[in-house]
Amino acid sequence: MSADEQKRAVGRAALDYVKPGMVVGVGTGSTVNHFIDALAERRDDIAGAVSSSEASSARLRQHGIEVLDLNSVSDLPIYVDGADEANRFLQLIKGGGGALTREKIVASASRTFVCIADESKLVPALGSFPLPVEVIPMARGLVARQITKRIGGRPVLRQSFTTDNGNIILDIHDLQIMEPIKLESTLNDIPGVVCNGLFAMRPADVLLLGGSEGVKTVT
Ligand code: 5RP
Repeated sequence: MSADEQKRAVGRAALDYVKPGMVVGVGTGSTVNHFIDALAERRDDIAGAVSSSEASSARLRQHGIEVLDLNSVSDLPIYVDGADEANRFLQLIKGGGGALTREKIVASASRTFVCIADESKLVPALGSFPLPVEVIPMARGLVARQITKRIGGRPVLRQSFTTDNGNIILDIHDLQIMEPIKLESTLNDIPGVVCNGLFAMRPADVLLLGGSEGVKTVT
């Protein structure tokens, strides 16, 4: 199976977690696109979706799935999203697509976070994938200097990219993440940081991994 076929398989497998009448939280990325395409078959069964990006909202609407404002939803039983890296504790690096802030908001509003990924995303330790940090544009230089001083690594401005919230992304290269929860908190404390791509304080609850032998469930 190619990586794309593995992503399609996990996207479809996540449908097992979608029950009639649910509002479904929907992440962003190529794996989630397969989930959205599969969810279209269930569009008349569900109460609608809360989306984590303009791109996912557009795809959901193309399939005739109603996109609901998170403010109008009091209970979000499930959130389905991809990841750039996952460790065995289901802590993640996310934000390769730049949607990390809304993804973290919707994930934190959900009762069950189902992460879907191909098997290449499971790593012994997080950090090979550059860690995305969403930053208010005027604080770009300040935040980059603070990251270098407090954390280390090499923050690099993501070129020609603006988030759905009108901000920039600094990708931190060359990090060895030994304590993901501590690092997530340290980054949150830097003025000008809107959000960072570590999902460690609120990890996934279930990881569906697509591999050459099918879909494996990690909890
Ligand atoms: C977007 C994300 C994505 O979930 C992550 O980048 C994985 O994407 P893909 O499924 O395309 O590999 O965090 O901000």
